[in-house]
Amino acid sequence: MDVSGPVIAVQPVLPVLQAKAAELAQRLGLPLLNAGQVDLPGTLVGLLLVGPEGLALRAPGKSAPGAIAVDFGAGAMRHRRRGGQNELLGRAVGVGKKPALQVLDATAGLGRDAFVLADLGCRVTLVEREPVVAALLECGLARASAAQEPWLREVAARMRLLTGEACSLAASSLGELDVIYLDPMFPQRDKSAAVKKEMALFQALFDNGDATAEPAGLLAWALRCPVARVVVKRPLKAAPLAGIPPSHSIRGKAVRYDVHVLQSLKAA
Ligand SMILES: C[S@@+](CC[C@H](N)C(=O)[O-])C[C@H]1O[C@@H](n2cnc3c(N)ncnc32)[C@H](O)[C@@H]1O
Repeated sequence: MDVSGPVIAVQPVLPVLQAKAAELAQRLGLPLLNAGQVDLPGTLVGLLLVGPEGLALRAPGKSAPGAIAVDFGAGAMRHRRRGGQNELLGRAVGVGKKPALQVLDATAGLGRDAFVLADLGCRVTLVEREPVVAALLECGLARASAAQEPWLREVAARMRLLTGEACSLAASSLGELDVIYLDPMFPQRDKSAAVKKEMALFQALFDNGDATAEPAGLLAWALRCPVARVVVKRPLKAAPLAGIPPSHSIRGKAVRYDVHVLQSLKAA
């Protein structure tokens, strides 16, 4: 295996999952470790674990924080379903102004915001450019699609995933859209230990670009797209992305949604 630079490697948690892990490693172009292998290369920064329940990502080492997986049926997502913060996101994209809003989440990440939007009745296309994150999402979506609970299967059916750089996707693959939603950065916006750990791992692995210039380009692209609005999630006290003032903002306790209205949603 090539270990010359920082790498994420794929590792099965059981020997019986070795072939599945090998197939995934080949698809993602990542090195493969054997189940139970403990002599890990020093350049390893992440382990994509293939388990019986699906995929999880964690930092190597015994004292590493817990693994990250996409589980839309987990307690935290159920809790968020009941929380008022979802209403803010829903209001920001315009839920209720038009039936079955078509939303492009151009920075899907672990898909939590996309899931909230789909749960509110939107049809959501998720775009994620990091293949490892996209693999976690794909696995989470597959699990939700096969869940026991009908509501979870119905929400998953309103979500579809595209892997790639959002600005480079062909307009034909995006379909008809009403809203583009952006959450491009990794600010420490949540004080909970779990989210901090998760953000730290994600920042180390994937946040390798310029913290301001690149998201500004993403916003410029979104504002050129034929949609009714572009919504940007920001830390509560941060300046508007790229210094472009939004039409209005919806403020929560920790985050703010900046809404750029381009045309009426009803007309879109
Ligand atoms: C802060 S996370 C989004 C978290 C997400 N809103 C959630 O609820 O889980 C940002 C994600 O967007 C992805 N990303 C950033 N810029 C992108 C782009 N131009 N195209 C596609 N994905 C992008 C990053 O790889 C990262 O996974």
